[in-house]
Amino acid sequence: MNPGACLGRTIAACAGLLAGAVGRGAVEGPPALRELAATRGLRVGTAVKAAALDEAVYRDTLLRNFAIVTPENELKMKPVRPARDRFEFAAADRIVDFAQQHGLRVRGHTLCWAADDHQPAWLLQQAATPAVAQDLLREHIFTVMQRYHGRVRDWDVVNESIANSNQPGASPYVDGYWLRALGEDYIALAFRLAREADPAARLFYNDYDHGRALGPKSDRIFALLQRLKAAGVPLDGVGLQLHCSIKDPPKRAELVANFRRLADLGLVVQVTELDVETMTGSGTPEERLAQQAQVYRDVFAAALEAKIEAVVTWGFTDKFRHTALLRRKNLPPELDTPMWLFDAAYDPKPAFDAVTHLLREPAP
Ligand code: XIL
Repeated sequence: MNPGACLGRTIAACAGLLAGAVGRGAVEGPPALRELAATRGLRVGTAVKAAALDEAVYRDTLLRNFAIVTPENELKMKPVRPARDRFEFAAADRIVDFAQQHGLRVRGHTLCWAADDHQPAWLLQQAATPAVAQDLLREHIFTVMQRYHGRVRDWDVVNESIANSNQPGASPYVDGYWLRALGEDYIALAFRLAREADPAARLFYNDYDHGRALGPKSDRIFALLQRLKAAGVPLDGVGLQLHCSIKDPPKRAELVANFRRLADLGLVVQVTELDVETMTGSGTPEERLAQQAQVYRDVFAAALEAKIEAVVTWGFTDKFRHTALLRRKNLPPELDTPMWLFDAAYDPKPAFDAVTHLLREPAP
């Protein structure tokens, strides 16, 4: 840590910096991301891991910069309901309690995930009949939502139900237990149950690849949401995940157009899972970080332009790396390059500087 970095900070913070105990993202100094965003009418959030809350610098960086948290995995059916008759809330409670203590909003993620590979094994062994599936879905949504009534404001009710490609004759929906048992009506049913379980919560549909570009998948998602709204299904918002890469970044104008058409349906629009991987791009590490900064800046610029409510990043420190992603893409570990706004030591990266610089610009 460069001692010059202490300029303008408190003695305690400097002592921490020099001792290497805290990263610059956690200490007093330049206005925090959340405050800058608030001056532009935008809320920023991040996914969090319950276990990481053990670390003071993780908590401090989080609290200083973000106003919304999403438990990254802790509220998914697999961890929350390891057996049909057993719910495990300890990890999710930890995040929700922390958020409540510190006045952070919580996004609940997620009640009904379409694909089988994200389901607990026991679910896939249940009879795929409407009666069984309806009972399971009702029980699940009611148990989880009612536990967090008044504490979790927004819920991703249905996650990733639209298929990536739509071959002629193929279903436009992702195959999975809920679809097999209930047909496409499971989507509307999940929203109706969620409204009944907690009428105060805002209910979101969440998916990927419909922000990155205007195209067939984003059109199919838009059409689904249009149908749900027309049918009077209680749907309040839409989440665009935005897992991006520097190789094929989203185009700002397309993002804006997509945000706007979704908002025109009467939906609250949020970016829910922003991250920008640099491993599939090219250039030196520094060049990759500069490209990453540009992608973050473009997404935030589009969010400001379309006046959407929130941008939530899918993590904030490169301390937690996506080695699974590397393995899946069959890439060498040295390309395990950073995805988020802060590096592994919690120091702000070029992406953080680009976003905060943008947020300081006067509103047009
Ligand atoms: C991912 C988590 O980040 C991983 O830790 C986990 O192993 C798999 O799920 N879409 C979603 C998120 O809606 O829940 C996923 O999160 C990333 C893609």
